[in-house]
Amino acid sequence: MDNTSTAPSLLSAAPPVSPLLSIERVVKDYQTDGESVRALDEVTLQMESGEFVALVGRSGCGKSTLLHLAGAMDFPTSGHVRLNGVATDHLDEAQLTTLRREKVGFIFQSFQLLHTLSVVENVELPLLLAGHAHPRPRALDRLAEVGLAELAHRMPHQLSGGQMQRVAIARALVHSPRILLADEPTGTAILELLREISRDQKTAILMATHSTEAAAFVDTTIRMRDGRIVD
Ligand SMILES: Nc1ncnc2c1ncn2[C@@H]1O[C@H](COP(=O)(O)OP(=O)(O)OP(=O)(O)O)[C@@H](O)[C@H]1O
Ligand SMILES: [Mg+2]
Repeated sequence: MDNTSTAPSLLSAAPPVSPLLSIERVVKDYQTDGESVRALDEVTLQMESGEFVALVGRSGCGKSTLLHLAGAMDFPTSGHVRLNGVATDHLDEAQLTTLRREKVGFIFQSFQLLHTLSVVENVELPLLLAGHAHPRPRALDRLAEVGLAELAHRMPHQLSGGQMQRVAIARALVHSPRILLADEPTGTAILELLREISRDQKTAILMATHSTEAAAFVDTTIRMRDGRIVD
């Protein structure tokens, strides 16, 4: 379905590694109208399998930017990101796509469900893109895990906000990623669900949050200010 014929062997050949995610002295500058904004300023961070980490800090401090770099969805201006033992700066686009499809799950703040597809079709999409011929049973299993087995055949506009978020979680987990990146998930029930996932499935979870109750659910809270980790 895509052009990644050489990439899978390269990525799957990587032995089990520790740490799962390694971010080393990462700087990220955005250019807008000739001005440069430093969104991340020498951030260093490591995560292991099964670890549940909250990123907290006021709006604009760089949380989403860090999640995008951790998921190899964007490149740092300087510094290094290693994901599952692979240095992402040495990969081409096709290899990056394969790495993301196999190892990373992402829950966007806006969920980004496809509104012309049913709930179960949204969830099976990552498997279809990765070339699976029969994704339906796994998609239905994931929906059951997030408590939505009954709603598999609804359309996204027929769901509540909380239910949409659960669909986004099921979709992010359907390919059993090593790391789940969650941008501002909301609600106690969702925090509980994420904690269960990190414990039972050994999925590492890096979550950006404004929630003051999040600290009670995670292993580590990392505080950011002006693009830096302060605590
Ligand atoms: N594509 C972009 N182009 C230019 N500047 C950007 C871009 N994306 C983010 N920024 C800037 O980078 C900084 C960090 O933004 P980021 O989205 O990472 O913050 P955040 O901590 O996730 O904030 P929030 O809590 O509001 O979601 C901000 O100053 C923001 O304006
Ligand atoms: Mg953000």
